[in-house]
Amino acid sequence: MKLLLLGSGGREHALAWKIAQSPKVEKLYIAPGNAGTSEVGENVAMKADDFDAIAAFVLDKQVDIVVVGPEDPLVKGIVDYFKANEAVRHIPVVGPSQEGAQLEGSKDFAKAFMKRHNIPTAAYATFDGTQVEEGCQFLETLQAPYVLKADGLCAGKGVLILPTLEEAKAELRNMLGGKFGNASSRVVIEEFLDGIECSVFVLTDGKHYQILPEAKDYKRIGEGDTGLNTGGMGSVTPVPFATEAWMKKVEDEIIRPTVEGLDQEGIDYKGFIFFGLINCDGQPKVIEYNCRMGDPETETVMLRLKSDLVDLFEGVAVGDLDQRTVEFDPRAAVCVMCVSGGYPGDYEKGFPMSNLHPEGCIVFHAGTVEQDGQVLTSGGRVIASCAYGQDKAEALATAMRGAQEIQFEKKYFRRDIGQDL
Ligand code: AMP
Ligand code: GLY
Repeated sequence: MKLLLLGSGGREHALAWKIAQSPKVEKLYIAPGNAGTSEVGENVAMKADDFDAIAAFVLDKQVDIVVVGPEDPLVKGIVDYFKANEAVRHIPVVGPSQEGAQLEGSKDFAKAFMKRHNIPTAAYATFDGTQVEEGCQFLETLQAPYVLKADGLCAGKGVLILPTLEEAKAELRNMLGGKFGNASSRVVIEEFLDGIECSVFVLTDGKHYQILPEAKDYKRIGEGDTGLNTGGMGSVTPVPFATEAWMKKVEDEIIRPTVEGLDQEGIDYKGFIFFGLINCDGQPKVIEYNCRMGDPETETVMLRLKSDLVDLFEGVAVGDLDQRTVEFDPRAAVCVMCVSGGYPGDYEKGFPMSNLHPEGCIVFHAGTVEQDGQVLTSGGRVIASCAYGQDKAEALATAMRGAQEIQFEKKYFRRDIGQDL
């Protein structure tokens, strides 16, 4: 079987690594990929949202399945594009339709969907530019801190948590006044939820689903969860509070109602669903949906998925995902992300890298390029050192050693990943 994977980050390298292990795979293409993905497949210089080029490539190379890594092509409608194009209609794309991708693309859509299906989440209301006063009145009914979310995609910057009512009202005015452009033309105001977060991943064929290993990610740049938000500094799986009983609640109250709700509403969804959950005194609640896998969670989730991922993708394509098996590796897995000094602010790129295969570690590239046989840094998040262990402590020790051994100028990584669990 020939597969095309779209994307270029650590998530895509981890997916490519897992896909390449399948005996069903004859050829794996990654577009555009990075220096790491070229070790497990063939990189193709094609943007993940250039649908015409992707369709032409898929026909030319007789690709059997397309797998979409990032949200952007999904929110832009790659699935609908394939369905509308006679020549490629028969080629399955793992990912939701544009309507399904609204679970991530519109916070208001996601909240209204959860409300319709009684899925536990924070209380909320949505306001547009004509409703600033109503929005301020709604804020007065809530307790501090205040959560404001731009409705549309904002590259992870659209959520603000404000300590006082005055700041919340001022930010509401800014957001509705165009702070995030069109993305904040509507703002969701939400009740603040207190608890530890956990990411749960599901693959669905639209009727059935399979639950993948859960993980916890670390978003802030600084140790002790301080400083600015990033694209993710590390992840750990399993998550100790995600016990069998807790996961049963997640499945009964959140996963099943979501998959059934999508089906009942006639929303075409064949792909990954990422449930961003928070554990509020034992009660799981949804903080957000994403229409793709998480980064850097995928880097550990793929380590713990024992089953053949390509077999699961076939199940998605055929619609018999319930007939496929998902087996978890009982070991723990940890990911420590090495980033460029200065990130998530300004940082330099183009530094030569070395020691990229630390012993006992599995390394996933996030922002690298290969030039004349030399691997160079090319992004803020550069490379992830990942490892298995009999328990979290053992996995952590190995992944940390790997992060220390990998060399490039101005490297930074958090030394406290997983310490809070
Ligand atoms: P989101 O993009 O919706 O996941 O929000 C980004 C981050 O903001 C989440 O990962 C949480 O850490 C935090 N957050 C979002 N909504 C809430 C909420 N209602 N209560 C507490 N924290 C929240
Ligand atoms: N790790 C969070 C995300 O992928 O959005």
